[in-house]
Amino acid sequence: MASLHLPCATTPSSQTRSSSRPVFAKPSHFITHAKRGHRLQVSCATENQNDSSRNVETSQGKVDRRNMLLGLGGLYGASNLVSAPGASANPIKPPEIDKCGTATNLNNNTQLDINCCPPLSQNIVDYRLPPVFQMKIRPSAHRVSPEYIFKYNMAIDRMKRLPKEDPRSFMQQANIHCAYCNGAYDQPGQGTLDLQVHNSWLFFPFHRWYLYFYERILGKLIGDPTFALPFWNWDNPKGMTIPPIFVDPKSALYDEKRNQANMPPAVVDLGMTRNPDPLQVVANNLTIMYNEMIRGNSDVYDFMGQPYREGTPVNPGPGASERGSHTAVHVWVGDPSQPSGEDLGNFYSAGRDPLFYCHHANVDRMWSLWQYFLPSKTVPDKRITDPDFLNAAFLFYDENAQLVRVTVKDCLDNLRMGYDFERIDLPIFPLTLDKIVRVLVPKTKKGKADELLLLENIQVDTTKFLKFDVFINDEDDNITELDKAAYVGTYAQVPHKTANKSATTSIRLKLTDLYDDMDVADDDTILVTLVPRHQGPGVTIGGIKIIENPTPAPPKTS
Ligand code: C2O
Repeated sequence: MASLHLPCATTPSSQTRSSSRPVFAKPSHFITHAKRGHRLQVSCATENQNDSSRNVETSQGKVDRRNMLLGLGGLYGASNLVSAPGASANPIKPPEIDKCGTATNLNNNTQLDINCCPPLSQNIVDYRLPPVFQMKIRPSAHRVSPEYIFKYNMAIDRMKRLPKEDPRSFMQQANIHCAYCNGAYDQPGQGTLDLQVHNSWLFFPFHRWYLYFYERILGKLIGDPTFALPFWNWDNPKGMTIPPIFVDPKSALYDEKRNQANMPPAVVDLGMTRNPDPLQVVANNLTIMYNEMIRGNSDVYDFMGQPYREGTPVNPGPGASERGSHTAVHVWVGDPSQPSGEDLGNFYSAGRDPLFYCHHANVDRMWSLWQYFLPSKTVPDKRITDPDFLNAAFLFYDENAQLVRVTVKDCLDNLRMGYDFERIDLPIFPLTLDKIVRVLVPKTKKGKADELLLLENIQVDTTKFLKFDVFINDEDDNITELDKAAYVGTYAQVPHKTANKSATTSIRLKLTDLYDDMDVADDDTILVTLVPRHQGPGVTIGGIKIIENPTPAPPKTS
């Protein structure tokens, strides 16, 4: 029976990239049986096909480097831009919407009896990202305020009331997904070769742009340009149910075509294991996230998806997140009693459920976290500099119903696009202690219980001087003094020789006396802050938990 010691690392508010980094910690004390073999796709099954274009020489000359640097948000220097292996051909061109045709139900290869083509327009404008005056912060859907819920409802409601032919209306927005996935478009100039945005490196960029305009349309409809979509925080134990705001039948956010067995409190099954024990499912989910985000990727394409260029047959290969957690959530929410798993369980209908955009806001967040926050030995450079990636283009209607052409290179940095995410970190151990880290740890009992803080599986490099201090319930980012109530203890090591330069250890720190000085009576979690005092890496922490003190404390005498 799994017990739940969830290190749900979290920081309270949104902060900038440079000033804070999330905690990534793997639940290494969970041994799980996540079935990684599952590679279910959301009814978009096509065999991987050989990409004959992959062996041709690259043509770096094609890319406008100035644009490319702009597209990368100016975060990187112009040196060491390397080309992707096997780069060639041309980027995917935007669809010719006047040639939009019938879409196919990929489940059974029959023609769909709906028309998912957008309204026509002769006037296409190259989209320029507007200057960012105020960053929109996408909130976790499980944590939104009543005011937010009210606004979000009103925006969706107004979208549903727009005239059917308005490209910003609810069904037209849903149909974007159908048109780009279900074979309504052919690749321009490539005969009847389908245009498909899934199962390739276009997956993240396409959906980012899709949500970007969807969010701007909603903001416009309620006259609030700061409106930001919520994200479904399914990577975090606290977000592993369908967000409650979507399950009220009276709400504009409701959709009846969902699996009724998976309503809250059912725990989302990212591994598609169907394990009946919810605690085990949570544990599996955490392991899956660790795999997708860190351990399972040996190059940038493993995460992003495989190259897809002009002339490439559809589905060259999905990235880790697309084929894993992303697909699992679609399938888990879709209604199995519908003919093709509608709504979320099928591409053509997925956009009809408001939850789709909330799910994809988290998929988008995963891209951003991976790109900017996740350390990776195997993928130190998260950029794809291949011009066929950067110059691939799509068409969308913007919030003013103007048809615009957008490119991948303009969507590589969410901050430059004007939005960020509420900071909630991925709870994945082991965490490397090369900066201040904060982890929320559940108490064994409410109130001033007799408890110990246990830091386990501490791996140290024995050749280095190492020291870190431990604090509880301290949100100060610049902790220099130890003479404060929140200080719990220290680990320090003098460099010494051991056979293999590394050792594993654990420490226990008594919390009971601290509780006497702190207001913990109503808390069921403690925020643990670890402050390294040494330079660079050298320590990783395998797990943090609070346990009951086995020896009862002697009665206090005063
Ligand atoms: Cu376009 Cu989640 O699929």
